Amino acid sequence: MDMVSIIEKKRDGGKLSSEEIGFFVNGYTTGDIPDYQASAFLMAVCIRGMDKEETFSMTGYMRDSGETVDLSGIKGIKVDKHSTGGVGDKTTFIAGPLAAACGIPVAKMSGRGLGFTGGTVDKMESVPGMRTALDRDEFIHQVNDTGLAVTGQTGKIAPADKRIYALRDVTGTVNDLSLISSSIMSKKLASGCDAILLDVKCGKGAFMQNYEDACNLAEMMTQIGRSCGKKTVAAVTDMDQPLGRAVGNSLEVMEAIETLKGRGPQDITELSLVLSGLMVYMGGKASSPEAGRRITEEKLYSGDALKKFRAYIAAQGGDPEITENKTLFPQPDHRIDIKSEDNGYVYEIGADRIGRASLHTGAGRRFKDDIIDLSAGIYICRKVGEKVSKGDILAVLQGNSQAKLLSAAEECRKAFRISAAAPEKKELVKSVIGLE
Ligand code: URA
Repeated sequence: MDMVSIIEKKRDGGKLSSEEIGFFVNGYTTGDIPDYQASAFLMAVCIRGMDKEETFSMTGYMRDSGETVDLSGIKGIKVDKHSTGGVGDKTTFIAGPLAAACGIPVAKMSGRGLGFTGGTVDKMESVPGMRTALDRDEFIHQVNDTGLAVTGQTGKIAPADKRIYALRDVTGTVNDLSLISSSIMSKKLASGCDAILLDVKCGKGAFMQNYEDACNLAEMMTQIGRSCGKKTVAAVTDMDQPLGRAVGNSLEVMEAIETLKGRGPQDITELSLVLSGLMVYMGGKASSPEAGRRITEEKLYSGDALKKFRAYIAAQGGDPEITENKTLFPQPDHRIDIKSEDNGYVYEIGADRIGRASLHTGAGRRFKDDIIDLSAGIYICRKVGEKVSKGDILAVLQGNSQAKLLSAAEECRKAFRISAAAPEKKELVKSVIGLE
């Protein structure tokens, strides 16, 4: 077998055998296949696509390229929630404690982020003292003890994906259904959970910009999960406007806390309840997703989920007082207001533009080794459908570099479209795929 023939076969629209896919995945991981051949192969896949069988094979080889975590030491059905990535998505910090408060063990492995904002691990680091690298025994012990632990994903999980994803990132080959689904599912399948809940984002701020593509991605990932014996469900949810009002690391954790106090924005509260309700159902603690949601709603308004969050923060070395005192978070030196130039209604807030503006403030990374400004980000004062008058503040940019905020301001301003008439309300949860 040789790599040139495999590239040519895919270039010409051929179907690859499992052995050929294994040859590529294993060869690239060991360094035997150079970047230029891997790039050509990935581009051929982006143009020609891979079918279900090819995608299943790719997932399996990437999963098996590293270790599979043994979480059997954790009692109960472990349900992992994973988002395909959006702007302002802090649901892990809300749905996690909600599910844990309902008795679902939440053992979450997360990553750092490239792009718009940091990832879950970066967001956690905005809590002073928080440890984000737990060893396996500590991780298992914490989940058994407090019901919830979040740790950084080690390089030992799906190292093939780590290498391939890094190459995709710089060769314009991220946005392909089979590559995205095999990348995400290889990591999920190696991470030792019993069931997988996927939040597949759909809209301007997501990989999948239209509903049909998002449903196809959701279908593919749920089929991969089920073929490996894992209960897998996917919710397709809106990502046309940012989720909630806060975008940026510490801002998002603060908003998650407000939400756990029952005072969060409507969209983030609703999505967190739907997702945690599904987790509770998948974990066998409710007879239906709706019943799961009712239970999580009780846990939200009783304050039990907030208690879980505080216990998780304390267990990982963070200061639980951050739930009561926002000044414990990194504070920005500068703020800039973005004001409305018109009267009317907010018709659109482009999540892609807000994401890019957030990156400009210093809240995200352009390159792997960039240092994030944890205080940086955007607070959206007016969401889609809300009324505005000329001069009202639409958003506030914050961070430690005035120059960066100024470079973010134009992009942020362009994200807002004001119209005379209110827009039609969009559904937040568009569909749920894979429920038996
Ligand atoms: N997230 C991943 O882990 N992989 C992708 O390909 C896209 C999003």
